[in-house]
Amino acid sequence: MVEGGGDVSWKELPGWFDWSEIVDRAVADAPRDRPSVFVEVGVAFGRSLAYTARKCIDSGKPITLWGVDPWIDDWNPDWDQQDGTRPTWGAEHAGWAREQGGPFSAFLKMMQTHAPEELEFCKVVRARGVDLAAMLRARVEMPHFVWIDGDHRYEGVRADLGSWCWRTGVDDILLRPRWFGGHDYTVDFRGVQRAVHERFGDLPQLGSSWLLAPVDEAAK
Ligand SMILES: C[S@@+](CC[C@H](N)C(=O)[O-])C[C@H]1O[C@@H](n2cnc3c(N)ncnc32)[C@H](O)[C@@H]1O
Repeated sequence: MVEGGGDVSWKELPGWFDWSEIVDRAVADAPRDRPSVFVEVGVAFGRSLAYTARKCIDSGKPITLWGVDPWIDDWNPDWDQQDGTRPTWGAEHAGWAREQGGPFSAFLKMMQTHAPEELEFCKVVRARGVDLAAMLRARVEMPHFVWIDGDHRYEGVRADLGSWCWRTGVDDILLRPRWFGGHDYTVDFRGVQRAVHERFGDLPQLGSSWLLAPVDEAAK
C-alpha cells in the first residue's frame, strides 16, 4: 500500500486500457539482442503506459518506451455524442484532473503514487504524436510497436496513422511499425474507423482495437 491508499500497480490508474494481450505479444516478439522502440500515442493518466512499461521492464529486453501526449485541458463542458462536439477524451475525469492541477499534473501524480518505477523507465514527451513521429523519423528509428490512442477525431487519427508510415527515398518502400494498432475502433468512434479503413482497408475488430501484427510473430 502507498500513502493516500491503493497499491503500487498500473491497476490503480484511471483509464480505458483493454489491450494487454497485444502488448504482451509485442513485448514477447521484441528482440533481446538489439534495442527496440515502443511508442504509446495518447497516455492520459498512464494506465496503459504503466502496464506496457512494467511488461518491458520485466522482459529484461533493451526496449525504449515513449509516451507522447499534449495533456491539454480541452474538455468541452457542452459535449454530446456527436463527433463534432465531443471532447478528444475522458470528460468524465475533468473535475478530478483539474483538482490535481490539470491533466499533466494528474498523470504525474498518479504515476508517482502507483507506478514510480514505470514512470522512471518511460521517456515522456508532452507533444502531439506526429511531433514524436517526426523526431524518430529524423533519427531513422522505426518503432517495433506503436499504439494510437490519442486524438480520436478523423483528421487527428489520419495524421497519426500517416506519421508512422514512412516511405524510403531510395527504393520507395513503405515502412511501418512491426506492431501497429490502436484503440476505440468501434462504432462509437466513427473518425477512428474511417481513418483506419482509408489507410488499411476494413480491418477486423480485436476487442475494441485494430491491429496490424507481423505474420512471422514469434516469441524470442
Ligand atoms: C483516451 S485517452 C488515452 C487513454 C490511455 N491510453 C489509457 O488507456 O488509459 C486519449 C489521450 O490522447 C491525448 N491526445 C489528444 N490528441 C493527441 C495527439 N495529437 N497526440 C497524442 N496524444 C493526444 C489526450 O490528451 C488524452 O490524454
